[in-house]
Amino acid sequence: MIRVIENIIKKSKNKFEYIDLGGGMGIDYGLNSKKLNYKKYSSSIESLLKKYKVKFIFEPGRSIIGDTACLITKVIYVKSSTKKNFIILDSAMNDFMRPALYGSSHRIIPTVKNNKILKKIHDFVGPICETTDRFLTLKKYQQLKENDTLAICDVGAYGIVLASNYNLRPKPAEVLINNSSLKIISKRENINKII
Ligand SMILES: Cc1ncc(COP(=O)(O)O)c(C=O)c1O
Repeated sequence: MIRVIENIIKKSKNKFEYIDLGGGMGIDYGLNSKKLNYKKYSSSIESLLKKYKVKFIFEPGRSIIGDTACLITKVIYVKSSTKKNFIILDSAMNDFMRPALYGSSHRIIPTVKNNKILKKIHDFVGPICETTDRFLTLKKYQQLKENDTLAICDVGAYGIVLASNYNLRPKPAEVLINNSSLKIISKRENINKII
């Protein structure tokens, strides 16, 4: 990217005062996702800074807040077949839309671990009858039962801001955790509010 920008600077007759490098630094989603090498990124920018008198602008989004939040969800039902287990959650694509919208993968971790690992396909899905109401598919997972709670990780960016009342579903509460103190920063919506 830096090479492309440098070519533009060289070829253009304009003198640039600002260059906006935007966002897109991403975060480590923990599922073999690639992480930006910040050292390389900053040294390539430094090299441009030395050559040209330009002010750089950054618009980081996810890299600041992506891994600061998780969506706590409850298992409503485990629908078991010979081939796979559907883990039906009480969260759905309206609560967290990234997987349905553009196929992003977010780790789902149990809030209480056990050692009973089931080597079977696990499809973590929401309760809305939509093909895209699916969060993640894993080849194995610990044994789950109704009312177990799970955390869908790294939902701090493009999470609650993309949530909707699709299918007449009230949005979840947002809780801010600071060390050991909890504060409800937006209450769980009530169905009466949206009908
Ligand atoms: C104009 C602009 N800048 C920056 C960003 C942030 O991108 P990211 O969260 O991938 O860092 C966005 C995201 O939508 C954007 O639209």
